[in-house]
Formats: sequence, C-alpha cells, structure tokens
Amino acid sequence: MATNAAKTLVTVARGNGIGPEIMEVTLKLLEAVGARLEYDFVEVGEDVFKRGIMDGIEPHAWESIRKSKLFLKAPITTPQGGGYRSVNVTMRKAFGQFANVRPVRTYDGFVSSKHQGVDMVIVRENEESLYAGIEYRQTRDTCHGLKLISRTGVELIVRYAFEYARTNGRKKVTCLVKDNIMKITDGLFHQVFDLIAKEYPDITADSLIVDIGMARIADTPERFDVVVTENLYGDIVSDIASQVSGSVGLAGSMNIGHGCAMFEAVHGSAPDIAGKGIANPSGLINAAVLMLYHIGQSEAAAKLGNALLYTLEAGQHTGDIAKDKKSALSTSQFGEAVAANLGKVPSKLKPFEKGNGRPVVLPRPEDTTQSVRVKRLTGVDVFVDFDGEVEGLGARVEQCGTARLPLKMVSSRGMQIYPVKPEVAPVTDLWACRFMGGEGDVAVADIRNVLHNLEALGLEWVMVENLYTFDHVPGFSGK
Ligand code: NAI
Ligand code: MG
Repeated sequence: MATNAAKTLVTVARGNGIGPEIMEVTLKLLEAVGARLEYDFVEVGEDVFKRGIMDGIEPHAWESIRKSKLFLKAPITTPQGGGYRSVNVTMRKAFGQFANVRPVRTYDGFVSSKHQGVDMVIVRENEESLYAGIEYRQTRDTCHGLKLISRTGVELIVRYAFEYARTNGRKKVTCLVKDNIMKITDGLFHQVFDLIAKEYPDITADSLIVDIGMARIADTPERFDVVVTENLYGDIVSDIASQVSGSVGLAGSMNIGHGCAMFEAVHGSAPDIAGKGIANPSGLINAAVLMLYHIGQSEAAAKLGNALLYTLEAGQHTGDIAKDKKSALSTSQFGEAVAANLGKVPSKLKPFEKGNGRPVVLPRPEDTTQSVRVKRLTGVDVFVDFDGEVEGLGARVEQCGTARLPLKMVSSRGMQIYPVKPEVAPVTDLWACRFMGGEGDVAVADIRNVLHNLEALGLEWVMVENLYTFDHVPGFSGK
C-alpha cells in the first residue's frame, strides 16, 4: 500500500556551519527508512543575508514554502548586528506558526544528564504575548511593551496542546500562567485552559503559577508531561527544560502553523566545529521524526526514531556525548550506524510507537467573541507626559474632567498618587489619568472633550486607553 502512495513535497534548507553535514546524514536516513518524500532545496541564512536580503530568505524559498507548506531546516548563522532579522521570527509571523513544540527527554543510562526519567513536551504559543515585541517610548523616562493575548490565539494553542497529548498517548497537560498578578491577560489564558480541559476528560489538566512552575521543572522535570504556556514564558521554560535534561544537543522542535510547519534541531550552526565532520546529527534526525509523524508517515517515523534510540543505547556516539572520546563516531559514521539499526527497537528507552503522533490538524477556531453580549464604554485612561512638580498635578488634571467624565484618579506605574497620596511619591514622567463615567453613559465625544481640556491646560497626552465593561465585567485593571 505504502509503496505507490504519493510523495510529499518538502522544502529543505541545508543551512550554515554544521548544517550541510547533519542535513546530508538526515536525508540519507529518510531515504533509507523509505519515507515518501520529494525535496525542493532552497537557500536561507548567511549567504542570503550577505546578498542584502534582510530576512535571510531568498524569493524562491518563499515560493517553495508556500507550495509545500512543509519546511525542514538545518541551523543557520545569523550575522551579528546590522539590522538582520531572525529567519525564525519572520517565518513564524508570515506563516501563522502559532505553536512551537519542543519535546524534551533524557536517555537514561546512555547519555549523561542531571535528571533521569524526563519525557516532556513544551507547547509554546508563538505569535502573541510580550514576545510580539510591540513596544513604545513616549516620554523621556518611560517605555512600555504591549502584552497582547487574544481569546482566539489562546483557544488555538490550548486545543493544540490537548490534541497533541491525546494523539501522542500523553496523560497530563500543565498550564503555566501568572494570573494572580495579570488577571486580565493571563487570566484569559487560564480561563480558556480550564474550559477546553473539560473537553478532554481522558487527560489530566493542571495549572501552576509560572515562577514556581519553572522552578519545579528545573527541580523535578520528570514529573511533567505536556506543558502549555504563553510565548515569553515558553521561550524561557523550553530552554530551562532542555538544559536541565541535558538534551539541547539532541532535541528537535517544530513550529506548527496554518501556512507552513517547520522542523529543525534546537541547537545552532556550531561554527566552532563546522567542516570537521564531528557534529551530532541527532537533533535534526529527531526533527525529521517529528515531521514524518506530522505528515502521517508514522511507520517511518517510529522506525527512524527507534533506530536512533537503539544506536544511542548501543553506545555508538558522536564526540559531544561519547564517554570514550577516542571511539567517538564521525557525523557520517553515526548516520551509517543508525541506518544499519533501522528495524531495531531500543531495549530500555521508551520506544517510538507507530500509533502515536497522528498529525494534529486544527481548524481555525470559531469566533467565540459573540458570546459577549454587551460591551460598554465607561471611561478612559489618558497618559500624560509630565515631569514638573507632581504636587498639584492631580488638581490640575481634575479641572479637565467633565460632568459626564470626571477624574477618578491619577496613578503612575499602577500606583495611585491622587486623590490618595502615596507614602513615597514616584519619580517618573508618565501619568495615567483615569476619568470614569457611568457604565453606558459615556460617548467617544466625552473623551475628546477631556483631551481638549488637557491640551488647553498645556498637558501633553501621549496615549489613550479606553475603559470598557464586557457583560458588566471591567476590561481594565485597577478600580
Ligand atoms: P550552537 O548551538 O550553534 O553551539 C553551542 C555549542 O554547542 C557549541 O560549542 C557547538 O559546537 C555545540 N553544538 C551545537 N550543536 C552541536 C551538534 N549538533 N553536535 C555537536 N556539538 C554541537 O549555538 P551558538 O554558538 O550560540 O550559535 C551559533 C550560530 O547559530 C549563531 O549564528 C546563532 O545565531 C545560530 N543559531 C541558529 C539557530 C537556528 O537556526 N535555529 C538556533 C540557535 C543558534
Ligand atoms: Mg529562545
């Protein structure tokens, strides 16, 4: 049945540094395992950057990825400084890659590591949160970043995590958030997690505050299964998890999106050992295994993954992990060893299963925003750049309020300075002036009047955040 099945087109980039060496081995293994693939080779990375293409992706690569929607990428070298953009960030944004999935595991007894029995998967939201890098500076003293979380985005990543758990025979999904402090943004993430968890009664759902969660991952990583979290937290926790389990050099990862899925090793282009033929290709081989599962070639995926595990068990290691450096295999020798072990299964390490890893294909989430019945404007926070004498600022701003939109308070960095005075007055130059009216009694024209009054008094407003309620629940922090 398999032999006549159509081949799947994959866009392949050989990358920089050790990239071409480990890609060659990986492609030979894909051939040997009978993967039904055809390749379109493209260039991304160093040479493309040097040609002045700032995102490091040649036009043909764009066309190819749009067509194949599947990208196997060796590590690339990003030149330091000079306005070059990260290929990964560009890909993520262009192709709607909403999930970064990084399996983290130990090879107990075969590859030395600080912890034993680690077998977890970090599912990181990839498009939103602070990591989106939406930042502003509007005053001399202060700058700020926008933490953007959408219900649609959270639903997608959380559902992906549960579907991934289910199709990969995993038992628990842990959510990491800081909703005790960020009640609206992280609160939304947590709330959606709890809702979606109910649809998966076969999987245990758990949540932890992100700081203690990461501490526990560093301390007892073996207790975790699937972890789902926001972009920035996920960036940090995936490195912590890989580091404590000693799997940085062996791990593969994938970026899943509606426009394209991308598979790569976790490590970089290792220029220090490039061209020496000693790099460990396991990270890219693991990425190829993830790719085979993703496109439904799970038999080949399990066979390749198990041959890799068998080879590691047999003590056939490259120099980076070999106990006896003298008997270390070269990159190509390691590839040959894995090829010779195709069909074998590991005796101690948990094997890859053919039934696992069915591709997780998610439809775009439905629009659930209509579940909010009433959205009402109730006030405004006007941010003012002011670095004069703070004493008296509140009274001045008070005059700018109107009957429909009176001043409620002035605060800075979330701390009130008017009408209640703080113990210690903050020294800064960005002041949030909150004007609040009755729910539903406020119109945009009222806000314009307040802004006009501020201008008339010579106060420079730099940012305006409208205050709404959603089904009578305030959509803003503070009172
Ligand atoms: P790196 O991961 O390339 O190297 C760190 C250390 O690990 C080096 O000593 C290296 O020799 C060793 N190492 C890495 N992979 C190995 C392998 N497969 N076998 C044996 N030893 C291995 O990280 P580094 O040095 O910070 O970055 C080098 C370049 O890679 C930079 O230009 C960086 O921007 C790029 N990079 C690219 C990534 C990607 O394309 N996804 C990811 C991370 C870094
Ligand atoms: Mg990172």
